[in-house]
Amino acid sequence: MNTVDLIVAKRDGGELSDEQINWFISGVTTGEIPAEQAAALLMAIVWRGLTGRELATWTAAMINSGQRLDLSSLDRPTVDKHSTGGVGDKVSLALCPLVAACGAAVPQLSGRGLGHTGGTLDKMEAISGWRAALSDDEFLAQLQDVGAVIAAATADLAPADRVLYALRDVTGTVASIPLIASSIMSKKIAEGTAGLVLDVKFGSGAFLPDPAMGEELARTMVGLGHAHGVDTVALLTDMDQPLGLAAGNALEVAEAIETLAGGGPADLIEVTLALAQEMVELANLDADPAKVLASGQAMDAWQSMVAAQGGDPAAPLPTAKVVDHWTAPVDGVINRIDALAVGVAAWRLGAGRARKEDDVSPVAGVRLRRVQGDRVTAGEVIAELHTDDPSLLPAAHGALSSALTISEAAPKPRHLIATRIADT
Ligand code: URA
Repeated sequence: MNTVDLIVAKRDGGELSDEQINWFISGVTTGEIPAEQAAALLMAIVWRGLTGRELATWTAAMINSGQRLDLSSLDRPTVDKHSTGGVGDKVSLALCPLVAACGAAVPQLSGRGLGHTGGTLDKMEAISGWRAALSDDEFLAQLQDVGAVIAAATADLAPADRVLYALRDVTGTVASIPLIASSIMSKKIAEGTAGLVLDVKFGSGAFLPDPAMGEELARTMVGLGHAHGVDTVALLTDMDQPLGLAAGNALEVAEAIETLAGGGPADLIEVTLALAQEMVELANLDADPAKVLASGQAMDAWQSMVAAQGGDPAAPLPTAKVVDHWTAPVDGVINRIDALAVGVAAWRLGAGRARKEDDVSPVAGVRLRRVQGDRVTAGEVIAELHTDDPSLLPAAHGALSSALTISEAAPKPRHLIATRIADT
């Protein structure tokens, strides 16, 4: 077989055969297919798409490029959640122990953040001593004992995706629904979970801001999950404004802990409980996540989860050397705080990375003091900007310069959960 034939066929709107797709994914994984040819095929797919059959074969080939974990030895039902990522999205931190405390095993294999959306592992690494890398045996033992694991995916989990995603990242070929759906679902299916809840974000801070695109992605992923025997449901949720008050690693951990302790911002609690309810139903458990959260059992599961991975749940979180202020330019009511602008500001303060080799600062980020609907006066503090490096403050202020919409009219109420998708 010849990669040029595949590129030309896709470029001209043709269909690839199952043999061609299996050959390509295997050649990409082993490195036999050169990056420039792989990138050319990816660009042709961005333009021409994949048919349902091509997508099914492509995803199966990605799963089969590595190991599919077997979680059948656990005596708890397995259910996981994946979010397409957003600004201040620390839901996994509270959700994972909450659903474990409801009786499930939550095998959350996660990644690191790139760009303005934070990665779950980067957030957890703000906790002193916590380690993301677990062996398969450690992962299984923790799932059985604690019920909750947030850990780094091993090198053998859908390795084709590692190669393809790195290539897509540097060739402008991330934005394709079949490529995103196969990338996310190959990793989640290979992880071995029986149930999966997808939190597909829309709005300015989301990966795909357009709700219609988000819905198409959600339907595509739900279809792939079902085709591979994973009970999958998606919620489409609003990411036009930051979720909760904090964006940045240690700041978000602190907010997740506050939520587990019975406090926390209302929007974060609403999204966490809606996802927890879906997960509990997929796992056929008879628990009420709101009651379990209020009982303190989710906090116990969090402490066990952190301690099992070397973290000290009682250790104070690191704090920034400098805290600057972002203030309201005029009097009025806050109608909107743009999520993307807050995400970019947190990133510029050091919370995120521009290239995957970069380090992130655990302490950097933005903490809102005011939110949509609050009346403010000119000069009042809207948010704190946290960083260890004051030279980064002007760039963060620049990112926030048009983030705020203030008017005399009250804002329209925010509907956080727009749609639920359980079939295709
Ligand atoms: N996240 C992934 O894991 N893959 C994509 O393609 C996009 C977001």
